[in-house]
Amino acid sequence: MIGSAMRRIMIHGPGGHERLVIEESQAPEPGPGEVLIEAEAIGVNYADCMVRMGLYKSAKDHVGWPICPGFEVAGKVAALGEGVADLRVGDPVVAVTRFFGYSTHLVVPENQAFPLPSSLTSGQAAGFPCVFLTAYYALRMLGNPRGGETMLVHSAAGGVGGALVQLGKVSGCRVVGVVGAAHKRDLVREHGASEVIDKSSEDLWAAAERHAPDGYHLIFDANGAVTLRQSYDHLAAPGKLIVFGFAGMLPKGRDRPNRLKLLYDWLRTPRFDPLHMTNNNRGVLGFNLSYLFAEIGLFHEAMAELLGWLEEGKIEPLPTRTFPFEDVAEAHRAIESGQTVGKLVLKV
Ligand SMILES: NC(=O)c1ccc[n+]([C@@H]2O[C@H](COP(=O)([O-])OP(=O)(O)OC[C@H]3O[C@@H](n4cnc5c(N)ncnc54)[C@H](OP(=O)(O)O)[C@@H]3O)[C@@H](O)[C@H]2O)c1
Repeated sequence: MIGSAMRRIMIHGPGGHERLVIEESQAPEPGPGEVLIEAEAIGVNYADCMVRMGLYKSAKDHVGWPICPGFEVAGKVAALGEGVADLRVGDPVVAVTRFFGYSTHLVVPENQAFPLPSSLTSGQAAGFPCVFLTAYYALRMLGNPRGGETMLVHSAAGGVGGALVQLGKVSGCRVVGVVGAAHKRDLVREHGASEVIDKSSEDLWAAAERHAPDGYHLIFDANGAVTLRQSYDHLAAPGKLIVFGFAGMLPKGRDRPNRLKLLYDWLRTPRFDPLHMTNNNRGVLGFNLSYLFAEIGLFHEAMAELLGWLEEGKIEPLPTRTFPFEDVAEAHRAIESGQTVGKLVLKV
């Protein structure tokens, strides 16, 4: 396997779908404590599009150009580096990786690979870690609900949104989900939301107030400036706004940013006032998992509980739409449309 041919999707500079090119090279050799994985399926995340557009800071900080994007794969262990004790060649695994996931073969440290849950197909597994780890970190580690909280989830039918709704239910919260199109409503209900707001046909904040007149204990927002101020204003006391993305700064259905809109949204992104936060018992927390790989123990803690819930049937994999590896541009086009539900996955 080592030294055999592999393919990966590379991006040599910022731009649209034409920037996604498949290149061939030799499969890498795992170093001490690393494993080589032969991928069967690869998770696609909205962040991958931001990497391609040159707007993802972590990609610049950790790799630069050219870059192979991708944060998660499912496949089989193809080779072991020295000292790897807990995995064997042929073991089915799902792995998290900071970039380089859009690849038929990749090397990761042993501690970034987890046994593939037997109930999942490789496609479902490849779409599991990123969105569920993000939701777990946001809700369980930052939000830390005790049960009984009311939470609002923006983009509730998407990848992270779908995971947040399910974990909210598991955590004993009442979940209100927000979606941008009518066809997304049913899934959010199926995942456990008690109310769904379709902002394409009703006033988001009027509905949000109707469903929680005293405000929300937890609000999860990856929209950016378009909703952040109002999200903060709709917190209960105590309440936490958890910020983890800025998709609303980009135009839906386009493969490159509008620079003027980026600037406008950056200027109108709220700066929150600590005095107001203190006197109103409101908190604002932000995070990006790709800066948390040094805390890999958190991922293990989260995965252990998530895989347990999966086995017990308390959570389920998101509906998964599959694209051939070669059709990566189609997958990016789909997620950029803002119309998808659940997860998108590339099949090798
Ligand atoms: N901080 C972290 O560690 C972390 C980790 C994973 C993901 N994220 C962030 O979480 C968000 C969701 O990621 P995901 O991969 O699960 O994607 P996703 O939610 O499956 O898809 C994106 C959704 O965002 C909404 N949206 C708002 N503005 C959009 C735009 N301009 N273009 C396309 N969609 C837009 C759409 O839903 P509605 O129209 O229904 O709102 C769309 O369906 C992204 O912002 C991502 O960067 C952050």
